[in-house]
Amino acid sequence: MGVAATRWRERQSARGIPEHILRAAPADPWTHVPTDFAPPAVPADTPSRTAARALAERAAARTCAGASLLDVGCGGGDAAFAAAWPEPSPVARVVGVDRQADMLGAFAAAARERRLPSGTVHGGWPDVAERAGRHDVVLCHHVLHNVVDLPPFLAALNDAVRGGGGGVVVEMLPEHPMAWLDPLWAHFHDVHRPESATAADAVAVLGEEFGIEPGVHHWEREQRLPHGPEWVARRLCLPAERVPEVAEALAGIPPRRRAAVTLVWSP
Ligand SMILES: C[S@@+](CC[C@H](N)C(=O)[O-])C[C@H]1O[C@@H](n2cnc3c(N)ncnc32)[C@H](O)[C@@H]1O
Repeated sequence: MGVAATRWRERQSARGIPEHILRAAPADPWTHVPTDFAPPAVPADTPSRTAARALAERAAARTCAGASLLDVGCGGGDAAFAAAWPEPSPVARVVGVDRQADMLGAFAAAARERRLPSGTVHGGWPDVAERAGRHDVVLCHHVLHNVVDLPPFLAALNDAVRGGGGGVVVEMLPEHPMAWLDPLWAHFHDVHRPESATAADAVAVLGEEFGIEPGVHHWEREQRLPHGPEWVARRLCLPAERVPEVAEALAGIPPRRRAAVTLVWSP
């Protein structure tokens, strides 16, 4: 494993929650709630959407059959449905992969609402990659920071792109999505987090392992991601009665940032 992939692995591994804290947690601090990831009827106009739409339009023009999109770690399908909007859409079919079955239910329901042919694959990427097949556009939004071993994950994204000019669009935050809470881990649990893996680290892995130099777009989200005291208390493995303390502590740290990064490449 190269230097960049090792750095990613070490930084990601160091963000685990100590076993004794996890055991005492009143709720699973990792599980995502599908309602937090429901795709809006009108998607935000972001560099990720622009890139995915352009790739889909190119593929549709090439094949005359419409583009096929794969959304890895799809959640409710924000990435895929944004690229398919508005009509007339170059997207003919979307496939969502997620290790949470309830997310796939939300994805399938959103596809039905939009009358877009869809499929789902339940399981963890890259283990289920073969079942997902090959597609013109492969999207992966806000998943990389869940991954420790990045090269096989990225290799499977590359392999999922059908030949002939398709591409991958990754959206992520500049650093780990929970890094803004590091001071509160120190405050409540005396857990001191090391530096987060960054989007620049992921770009370095792409270069080192695959010789890929992605297009890199830095931008700001319109809306701040979840950041309320109840939500934060759960992430910190704290019970409901400590929410007021969490609210007070949150007031003493910088608010959750809106910065996001889009990486685009053709394998
Ligand atoms: C932060 S959510 C992002 C959802 C969606 N992509 C979006 O941007 O709205 C991350 C999603 O990826 C899924 N996930 C995380 N790691 C995964 C993996 N290795 N394979 C499949 N799904 C994964 C989670 O279950 C969750 O639904």
